[in-house]
Amino acid sequence: MKKRIVAFRRLKQEQLDQLTEDFHVDYFEKLDSADDPAFREALAEAHGLVGASLKITPQLLDEAPHLEAIASISVGYDNYPVDELTRRGILLCNTPDVLTETTADTGFLLIIATARRAVELAEFVKRGDWQESIGEAQFGTDVHGKTLGMIGFGRIGAAIARRGALGFGMKILYSNASPKPQLEQELGATRREMDELLAESDFVCVTVPLSAETEHLIGKREFALMKPSAIFVNIARGKVVDEPALVAALESGEIRAAGLDVFEQEPLSLESPLPHMANVVALPHIGSATHETRDAMAQRAVDNIALALKGERPISLVNEAAYQSRD
Ligand code: DGY
Repeated sequence: MKKRIVAFRRLKQEQLDQLTEDFHVDYFEKLDSADDPAFREALAEAHGLVGASLKITPQLLDEAPHLEAIASISVGYDNYPVDELTRRGILLCNTPDVLTETTADTGFLLIIATARRAVELAEFVKRGDWQESIGEAQFGTDVHGKTLGMIGFGRIGAAIARRGALGFGMKILYSNASPKPQLEQELGATRREMDELLAESDFVCVTVPLSAETEHLIGKREFALMKPSAIFVNIARGKVVDEPALVAALESGEIRAAGLDVFEQEPLSLESPLPHMANVVALPHIGSATHETRDAMAQRAVDNIALALKGERPISLVNEAAYQSRD
């Protein structure tokens, strides 16, 4: 009998065909909630899950007694109880590498858009307010030659820094658990304690994964350490930042502006002050959202789940210990 896969994010027909060659697939192209009865029914029989943006809880896992592997269509895995999955011997796979450059493009888009006030001024044109040559009231601030402070210096952080150093002549500072000597050499980057980085940077860009250690890593104290001219960019996860503290820092002028792709609550409610602030560029979590990259991520997840359910090693595995514990 074929093993069963539940897929709950849009996959291309070729990707579905690839899976159905070897597996029975229950496909939920658009799943609004884990409470969907058909989804729960399929889950009860599933050996594999492929999808994204769904909080997987231990309670949900209790309803999936046959589950052997999950392939998330994301690099971040804060939606999954990793220790619990490992304890149950369930493999968790993600999609690093294929989204690095696209997500770094989004990071740099936020840096430039906030510095040059692109969204605010595009709205100014749309409203018909461009009646005479623009003046100082519309000036932005330079990006080239400035200091870019990276909090987190993994694949995506390094790719943003590479754009800054090699494309815009920026000085790169980074704070990271381990030193990165190769990147120091390649980009002239310098490792700093986080407080020093916050005080010295013109742009502070967060790329750390969300974990118990990084939740609310940036709050009132950290904003107070930044320059009043600093621009803050978050391309990681909303919960890495204390959002009310960010709003207060933006309102009081403690920092100049913020470029945000992620929020504590997504989708971002219009009740939040953030989308209404002129010095905020707020994007709807588009980090990796291009046709090419989302296809590549879905393909990686499809390959990961197929390998995992065939007893082979997936390409990108989060919990190595679960793989090692297999018979
Ligand atoms: C990821 O892959 O983790 C990105 O945030 C897109 O969801």
